[in-house]
Amino acid sequence: MTETQTFSIASIPGDGIGGEVVAAGLRVLDTVAKLSGGAVDFDVTEFPWSSEYYLENGHYIPEGGLDQLQKHDAIYFGAVGSSDVADHTSLWGLRLAITQPFDQWANIRPVTFLPGVESPLRKADDTDLDWIVVRENSEGEYAGMGGRNLSGRGPGNEVALQTSLHTEKGCERIIRFAFDLARTRTTKKVSCVTKSNAQQFGMVLWDEVFARVAKDYPEVETESVLVDAMSAKFILHPEDLSVVVASNLHADILSDLGSALAGSLGLAASANLNPERRFPSMFEPVHGSAPDIAGQGVSNPIGAISSASLMLDQFGLTAEAEEVRQAVSNVTEAGILPRDLGGDSTTVEVTEAIVTQLEAIHAQSTPFPNPTAVS
Ligand code: NAI
Ligand code: MG
Repeated sequence: MTETQTFSIASIPGDGIGGEVVAAGLRVLDTVAKLSGGAVDFDVTEFPWSSEYYLENGHYIPEGGLDQLQKHDAIYFGAVGSSDVADHTSLWGLRLAITQPFDQWANIRPVTFLPGVESPLRKADDTDLDWIVVRENSEGEYAGMGGRNLSGRGPGNEVALQTSLHTEKGCERIIRFAFDLARTRTTKKVSCVTKSNAQQFGMVLWDEVFARVAKDYPEVETESVLVDAMSAKFILHPEDLSVVVASNLHADILSDLGSALAGSLGLAASANLNPERRFPSMFEPVHGSAPDIAGQGVSNPIGAISSASLMLDQFGLTAEAEEVRQAVSNVTEAGILPRDLGGDSTTVEVTEAIVTQLEAIHAQSTPFPNPTAVS
């Protein structure tokens, strides 16, 4: 009898559809634990931090809140955003208030084309497409540097500065991360995205670091593409992409484009990693709180469930993560689709179908190997 490996997860459902999709992901993790026959367990603690909580208490994260999160192996995040709070207040109050202090500097966002899901890309029908957007997640355009001033000069005279911060260290670590990731993929290629023709300081530094780091990875093919051209390339030549590395803002935009091309924003998964593991990493769907459909039970849970599979990867449970991905793929292939993908299945129906698939896949496979078991 092997010992149970327990992973502690801090869940933060947040606002809007965050609660529905996090519940779906936790249901899948619960199934993974059950199927492991005692090898793996997840100990989940929920934190009620949301915009409603902010309106009641005046803060999203209470004093000592980060210390509580720090004790967990991972954070599972839904979304934050409400019509009652300015978007920059909620984003900086909760999401960035975790990613920044926990130095989750690498944000990976796979663009996955699932069977049974129609893509607006004609090429998707007969070409194998999948790529990963690697987003610098700690500085760049979201460094929060700048200020507003001169409003005292009267109406119409205010100025604002929003400065991008690009450090050589910050560029190097994310670019190296992208190359290391590319090495593990069938197509060993990294596409570097900047806007260095117009932004001659920060983005040129980025390009220079890219050229220097690339020398350490002679087996990895490279290209450098400006962000506007890359947005066109996502649509016209997506088969050329494997790993795409870009700044905080550029990768944010490109990953939404990628998920829309794969069929819906509701599908897109993401991991905010602290690769040194000094802090817990945070896993979340790419989408926001979707106030337009919140509370109707129709949100697509696949982005959140696929984010949970990235969490399993981080825990070293790669066989389990693969089985979750296979279960998701079987369900879309069978045409069990939520509304945003053109179907009529509810959040719970899609989730239960994935759970059923997971059980079926598991019954056919050998039991999950316990990663720490000594043979
Ligand atoms: P959004 O991602 O919430 O919604 C955009 C569109 O996609 C909406 O029509 C929505 O119904 C649809 N959609 C999103 N996720 C879906 C899902 N799982 N299933 C089905 N349809 C889905 O982005 P939006 O509308 O720009 O922002 C809404 C709020 O969310 C804002 O307050 C914004 O600041 C916040 N937000 C938060 C993020 C986060 O916490 N990581 C990320 C993006 C936005
Ligand atoms: Mg975004």
